[in-house]
Order: sequence, then C-alpha cells, then structure tokens
Amino acid sequence: MADNYKRTLVTCALPYANGPVHIGHLAGVYVPADIYVRYLRMRSRDVLFVCGSDEHGVPITIKALQQGCTPQDVVDKYHGIIKKAFADFGIEFDIYSRTTSKVHAQTASEFFRKLYDEGKFIEKESEQYYDEQAHQFLADRYIMGTCPKCGNERAYGDQCEKCGSTLSPDELINPHSTISGAPLVKKATKHWYLPLDKYEPWLREWILENHKEWKINVYGQCKSWLDGGLQPRAVSRDLDWGVPVPVEGAEGKVLYVWFDAPIGYISNTKELLPNDWEKWWKDPETRLVHFIGKDNIVFHCIVFPSMLKAYGGYILPDNVPANEFLNLEGDKISTSRNWAVWLHEYLEDFPGGQDLLRYVLTANAPETKDNDFTWKDFQARNNSELVAILGNFVNRAVVLTHKYFEGKVPENLKPEAIDGEVMSQIPAIKAAIEENIEHYRFREALKEAMNLARLGNKYISDTEPWKVAKSDMERCASILYHSIQLCADIAIACEPFLPFSMERLAKMLNLENRNWESFGNVELLEPGHQLNPAELLFAKIEDAQIDAQIKRLEDIKKANEAAAAAAAPQPTVDPAKERCTFEDFEKMDIRTATVLEAERVPKTDKLLHLKIDTGLDVREIVSGIAEYYTPEEMVGKQICIQANLQPRKIRGIESKGMILMARQADGKMRIVSPEEPLTNGACIG
Ligand code: MF3
Ligand code: ZN
Repeated sequence: MADNYKRTLVTCALPYANGPVHIGHLAGVYVPADIYVRYLRMRSRDVLFVCGSDEHGVPITIKALQQGCTPQDVVDKYHGIIKKAFADFGIEFDIYSRTTSKVHAQTASEFFRKLYDEGKFIEKESEQYYDEQAHQFLADRYIMGTCPKCGNERAYGDQCEKCGSTLSPDELINPHSTISGAPLVKKATKHWYLPLDKYEPWLREWILENHKEWKINVYGQCKSWLDGGLQPRAVSRDLDWGVPVPVEGAEGKVLYVWFDAPIGYISNTKELLPNDWEKWWKDPETRLVHFIGKDNIVFHCIVFPSMLKAYGGYILPDNVPANEFLNLEGDKISTSRNWAVWLHEYLEDFPGGQDLLRYVLTANAPETKDNDFTWKDFQARNNSELVAILGNFVNRAVVLTHKYFEGKVPENLKPEAIDGEVMSQIPAIKAAIEENIEHYRFREALKEAMNLARLGNKYISDTEPWKVAKSDMERCASILYHSIQLCADIAIACEPFLPFSMERLAKMLNLENRNWESFGNVELLEPGHQLNPAELLFAKIEDAQIDAQIKRLEDIKKANEAAAAAAAPQPTVDPAKERCTFEDFEKMDIRTATVLEAERVPKTDKLLHLKIDTGLDVREIVSGIAEYYTPEEMVGKQICIQANLQPRKIRGIESKGMILMARQADGKMRIVSPEEPLTNGACIG
C-alpha cells in the first residue's frame, strides 16, 4: 500500500437501534469493513474501527409507542442485542458506542452551535401539521389518512404501504394523527437549514473531479444528486427525542437524526481516545473510509462532508465504498415485515457458523448490484466450497503428515518441478488479494484466497502422496512439506475473511506469526515443526437444517399475507332502512328481462341507454352503470328490473324502469341476475 496516509479510520454506518441486525446489513456494510480492517491490522497499519448505535429519530419513537415503553427502553434493548451479535460474529470494532451517550450529546450540540454562531444555517418558518390534542408537531410517519392512489385508509404521511406510492401528508385524504386520532391543523414552526446549494460547486469538484476512483454506483448516485441541484436541508425537527437544539427559544426541537448520527463517528472516536481523537479526524495524513449501504450515500458523500466543510478543520472521506442491497429469497429484506435472517438468531441456529455466514455474504456480496441470499445457495457454498475445497485440502495435508511423519513437518528431501510450479503461483495470488481488498472488491479477493486451496487440492490429487508413500518416502516428504507450507499461507490469506476457522487452522499448524508480510515466504514452517491433531474446519450442512429455515420464512410470508388481508379496508354496510308493509312490497313489479341493445348516452360518463325485452314488451331504459359495465358486456345479459316505476325522462330519453343492482358502500356495483337463465318476464318476489 504505497500511499501518503499514515493511518486509516474506518467507520461503519451506525445501525438504527429500533431492531436487530440482519444479513442485509452484514453483507452491505459490516462484513466488508471487518475484512478491510483485519487486513490492515495484519499489515500492522495504524487503523481505528469505529461504530455504534444510531439511537435517535422518529422510527424509534414509533416503536416505543407501539410497545408501550419509552424510546430509551427501545434503544437500550436493541443496542444490547446489536452490540452482542457483532461481538459474537467477530466484527471487532475498537469502539461500539451509542448516540445517546453524553459525549455524543456534547459533541453534536457543540457542532451545531458553532455552525449556528457562524451563520452557516438558514433560519426559516414553515407550516407543519400539528396535533392539538397531543400538543405536538407530527412527523410524516405519525400522520395517517386515505391513500389518494389506492384508497387504503391506513396510508402514512410519507408512504402508502399497500400500493407503495411515495406520498406527502398533503396528499392524504382525511389526514389525522396516529397519536391522538385527532384531525390535523397546520401551524408555523421555525427550523434551521444547511444550505447545501452553496456547497454544490465545491462538491462537484471534490467528488466529480477528484474522486473519479469511487465505485461507479457511488459516483453515479452523487452525480445524479448534484446534477439534480441541491436544496437547503432542515437539520432540526419538532420532536422530543434527540439532541436538543442548543439555541434559546428552541424548546421542543431536536437535531435531525441525520445531522447528529454521522457526528456519532466523531463522538465515538472521542469517547475511545479523549486525548488523541483529533489526529484521527483532523490530520490530513489520516485516510477516512465510510462503509455504508446505498441508501446512505447522499448523507455520507454530500450532507456530512458539507457539514464537515462548514465546520472546518476536518478531513473528508477518502472513499465511501457503498454496497447495493441483499435480498432474501427473492424479496426485499424488511425489518417491519420480519423478512430477514437476524444475526442473533442465526448464531443460535448455527452455533460456530460465523465463518460460514461471512463466507456466503462475501462470496455473494452485493458489491455492484443487488444480490439474493437463498438458503439453498448457503448450503451449496458450505458443502461444495468450504467443506469440499478448503476444509478438504487442509484435512488431507494435516492427516497425511500425521500418518507418515508423526505430525512433524517433513524435510524437503526430493523436490520436483511440480512443487516449484505450485508454490510459484503464490506471489501472484497474494498480489491479487491485496489489489482487490485495497480497491474494496472483497468478493474477488475471497475468490483469490480460495484459489490457494484449489491449488492445494489439485497438487495433492496430481501427486498422490498416499501412493508415493508406498515406494518413495523422500518424495512423499517433499509433497507434504509443500502442502503444509500452503496450509500456512491459507491460514494467513483467509484470516480477514474467515477469522474463526483460520484461528483454528493456525492452532492446528502451531503457526504463531500470521502477519501479512510472511504470507508467501518460502518456508513458513520449518522441518521438524510439530503439528497438532487434524480437526475438521467445516461440517456438511444437511437438508433438514436448510428446510427448517425455509419453512420459517414460509411461515412468515403466510403470517404477513394474513395480516395484510386483515388490515385491508373492509367496506362498511349501509344502514338499515325503515320497515315497509307486505302490501308496499307487493306493489312492486320486479321481473327478469334481457338486454337487446346498449350504447353510451352521449356526453355522459355514467349512463347507458338500453333496449330490453321484459317478456311483456320491448322498452328503453337509462341506467347509471357505465362505470361498471361496457355496452358490449351488457348486450345479451339477463337482468332483473323494477318494471312499474313511474317513467322518467333522462337526457331526453324516456326511461321505463330500473335495473336491479347490488351496491357496496364503497360504491362498487354489480348487476343482480337469476342464478340460471329464465324466460323473460318471470316475476320476482
Ligand atoms: N442508521 C442509519 C441507517 O441504518 C445509518 C446512520 S449512519 C450515520 O441507515 F452516519 F448517520 F451514522
Ligand atoms: Zn395506496
């Protein structure tokens, strides 16, 4: 890594503490970041790995409301779950803190105050929805009403979850508060805005000119934001959960969560290194890298850098290697729909399965496009890659060394050309792994690392040491000598990707020094060096385990479908009418008829002009059914009519009678017809 940086600060998007972490988060952010950091640490680079929980924002207050507890209870619960799951999974942050910490409140508050004092914000009043019963302004998510697009009565102020449309609260029909149920009023409120438009020329140059090396998905998104023109962004909210706006008269206002959360990277560094944090954030010799998912690009490439620039003195990210999304069995992962594989649950279901998941998520990482996680692929990658390639090679090499040489690395007594050919491929593989990791292509890097095991398997299969052992122990010694060296190379090369099993492999080999530099050394383990007994690194996964996971997902899908059906608006029923006498009813002449001709009444949307055969006569009627039936559909249909109604002139046509229709309260109508065709004029009653 020849560059001018002295140290690297790696951050991962702070996960929202309103739910546990799932495989989508891991594949997009945490696994690649952890690989990168482990690699730098193995190279003895000065590196700091910072993360923590994102504990403010509306989703957390909503969760609290749903669960009947305080926002603090919500974040305490999920912060604990997330922190433990990361640790169990081997994501080794130097610090995992939280945005409800004291250091963070101070840091974020001071950050805002400096920009405020220096006049870097615009102050603006705007009309926002207000709930007069709950005495508070409402975030879009707290507003519910009828979707103008699909009629869903439970659409939110920002989105209708039924038809997927993006909405604004102004578009909702009958908007009301989900907190009190009250209808809403609009009230003026003051907020502070960061004038991103002013930073646009600088951002264009910094990103579009000076960071052409950024991943194309990241560069492309930035370009399209910049080309679309930036607007001032509000950095405060009317909410009672968050870092209070440190300005007089701003009671009831907090910093917008997307303003305070990225400052969390700074606060967490400060918490870890109270006296030494500044060199990580202000020294141009520090390389700053943000690992995030694609939904965070604008905040990390445009908003946060503008904040840092406005504040002054901070370094800016050298790279923001954002990933695309991972889907689960073909559907978008969703915390609210429980469509996810949760890390803490996975670790319970697959004890010791950390590396397996790290492997699958890296081999199938959504680096350039969205990818799909399926349990079948998970099983296949375990059984035919980890077990059959990596585990198999290491096992054969170590077992044979025990069998023929009492577990001691044999001497290289009788080298042949093939040994040199195999070992000479290592430097190129090493260089490829480095090149790929340093360019954030972890999928490719893993493939290269696995090539070492592929190479080893082929070597052993080609040379067949178990056969050679029968006639030529010296040759057998050389083959196993090289095989064991290759195992040691693997223990180093695969460590960033598979830290748990490589630790076990290193123990098996008694390999103490695993720094990156020694990878590729001609002799990592000397002849006579004692190995420990062979252990299987990976175990086959049986169908039953996979079937259980697939069934779990199917059950969730069914539960979601049932919940959606139950939540669908049920048409209400019209109220009962006044009683009538039998005589009243008897007066009505209701009978069957057949439509002979039908056409639209010109210049109307609702009316059809029909000619019908009533059995008594052929007559004309005008009926308001054109929204539900076309003229073509009507011709030939048997219907029921009220035949003795007073004739009425509609649009100049004398209408003699009325078609019987069943009308739902929501307006939907269908014709009432006899169950099977009858003669026209059959009386109903
Ligand atoms: N909590 C956000 C998310 O999960 C990420 C916040 S990243 C930070 O999408 F920079 F704001 F911290
Ligand atoms: Zn809708």
